[in-house]
Amino acid sequence: VGGKVFDVSMDELSKHNKKDDAWMAIRGKVYNVTPYLEYHPGGEDELMRGAGLDGTQLFDEIHKWVNYESMLEKCYIGKLKAATPVKK
Ligand code: HEM
Repeated sequence: VGGKVFDVSMDELSKHNKKDDAWMAIRGKVYNVTPYLEYHPGGEDELMRGAGLDGTQLFDEIHKWVNYESMLEKCYIGKLKAATPVKK
């Protein structure tokens, strides 16, 4: 990704749901959590529950106080784009 920041759609986010390619959105910010997986104190499988998803709710239920913004600073990808409104 080369340090470039860009907006991420839900569709794009959902593709990154594997252990070797895991992205997660927290409060509108998308992070590549792949490098953090092996360091997560709650284990890889717990962190993977939010992979490819908006993990805000899960994250807050378990450890709202954890400072993910500084921990994942270098893993920041971009802002989560709001879903495109569908015309009916
Ligand atoms: C601990 C789950 C995302 C950082 C834990 C624990 C669980 C968990 C179950 C408790 C381990 C224990 O006490 O035995 C999850 C889930 C996540 C998630 C389900 C998302 C879907 C994250 C993220 C970060 C993070 C994104 C940071 C970048 C930590 C830290 C602890 C922890 C620092 C230790 C907290 C403490 O002991 O006070 N996690 N986690 N987690 N997680 Fe997560």
